[in-house]
Amino acid sequence: MFAELSSVDKAKYVAAKRAVEFVEDGMKLGLGTGSTAAWMVRCLAERVHKEGLRIQGVPTSTRTADLAGELGLEVITLDEAGRLDITIDGTDEFDANLSLIKGGGGALLQEKIVASASDKMIVIADFDKRVAHLGQFPLPIEVLGFGLKSSQSQISELIAAQDVTECKITMRMAGGSPFTTDQGNYILDLHLGKIGDPEKLAVVLNQVPGVVENGLFVDICDLVVLGASDGTVEEQSKN
Ligand code: A5P
Repeated sequence: MFAELSSVDKAKYVAAKRAVEFVEDGMKLGLGTGSTAAWMVRCLAERVHKEGLRIQGVPTSTRTADLAGELGLEVITLDEAGRLDITIDGTDEFDANLSLIKGGGGALLQEKIVASASDKMIVIADFDKRVAHLGQFPLPIEVLGFGLKSSQSQISELIAAQDVTECKITMRMAGGSPFTTDQGNYILDLHLGKIGDPEKLAVVLNQVPGVVENGLFVDICDLVVLGASDGTVEEQSKN
């Protein structure tokens, strides 16, 4: 099977396979969203079926819930789980401090809630996701539909005063309509170029009342497992 995968899927697969080795019998897990996280769900299901591992998973999106259910994993809600042992998720970018930009798939709110309720967050990625400075990937912000234009103006003013090199905002679309999240909210993508201070920006953005959450994950990720298309894996921990 491995030989038939594209280069990028090989990298995602080996990262996912390594990450699920951290899973132990009886654990409650956060299940991330995205193409890399989908590999993790498949690798996890393989362990569950081959080894009889008993785990319970809290999905971070309906997409992941559907996949986990199809593969026979036990799915529970975060409220049923309480605290989680490990969340394994993908990312759009990560830097040397293991700060992340997430939300390319629009699931950042549930992803952040689930990761924050976990003892450990493991991020799985290919090498293209490693950056010197966050911000080349547009930063997703989940916003309420109520007062959207007002929120967008406030965000615009705020980011103009931050340590960033660009200040453009686009509305996330799906076909001809605005993209809606699992919570029925919208996503604004902030094109910021280079984010000088991710920690400060994460706090500042959430001051706007219409902002539900932003896609900056600061001080949440504990370990990044990086996969390469030649099948090798590298691990990067917090300094
Ligand atoms: C989903 O909302 C995102 O946070 C994903 O984790 C992120 O976009 C990574 O996705 P891929 O693994 O598909 O690149």
